[in-house]
Amino acid sequence: MPERDPHLSVLFSRAQIAERVAALGAQISQDFAGQHVVLIGVLKGAAIFMSDLARAITIDASFDFVGAASYGKGSASSGEVRLTKDLDRSVNGENVILVEDILDTGLTLSFLQRMLMLHAPRALKTAALLDKPSRRVRPFNADYVGFTIPDKFVVGYGLDHNEQYRNLPDICVLDAAPE
Ligand code: IMP
Ligand code: MG
Repeated sequence: MPERDPHLSVLFSRAQIAERVAALGAQISQDFAGQHVVLIGVLKGAAIFMSDLARAITIDASFDFVGAASYGKGSASSGEVRLTKDLDRSVNGENVILVEDILDTGLTLSFLQRMLMLHAPRALKTAALLDKPSRRVRPFNADYVGFTIPDKFVVGYGLDHNEQYRNLPDICVLDAAPE
């Protein structure tokens, strides 16, 4: 049972997450009232956040996904990011909200922001469920943040450790990396 994993402790419960995601959805709906937004999820971590956020948004929204990976392996980023899945269609003239699970060093979102600006969107905002500002390598501020957290490795609600734990309904701190 993942819930009984001794390495995991709940940081934000499913109820706390639902409340924050509802508030972010309401804010986005208000900021873009009467307009259309394109939600762009960063695979794979943002998939669960995006599916809940999308349903908390009451204005017209469409979806796309991008994939990004850092060249370095593991949690220590090498600093270089590459695109592993591009947009299905251009977002030229669109109100874009880039949706990410966690803002850590800032390298991924700053890379994707630069890439998306090449499409000349009408607006480009970023939504990060979690923000670890103490880890920033490149200055980056997200427009919509769920929770600001200390420098701890977290899993669940889309976030993984070696592809494990993404399906946990709560956001948990992973204390020691299990084999
Ligand atoms: P950044 O480019 O360092 O901001 O990287 C963000 C990416 O690093 C996220 O999309 C996650 O895939 C990964 N990441 C950073 N911190 C964590 C964490 O605490 N748990 C799981 N993944 C993390
Ligand atoms: Mg990720």
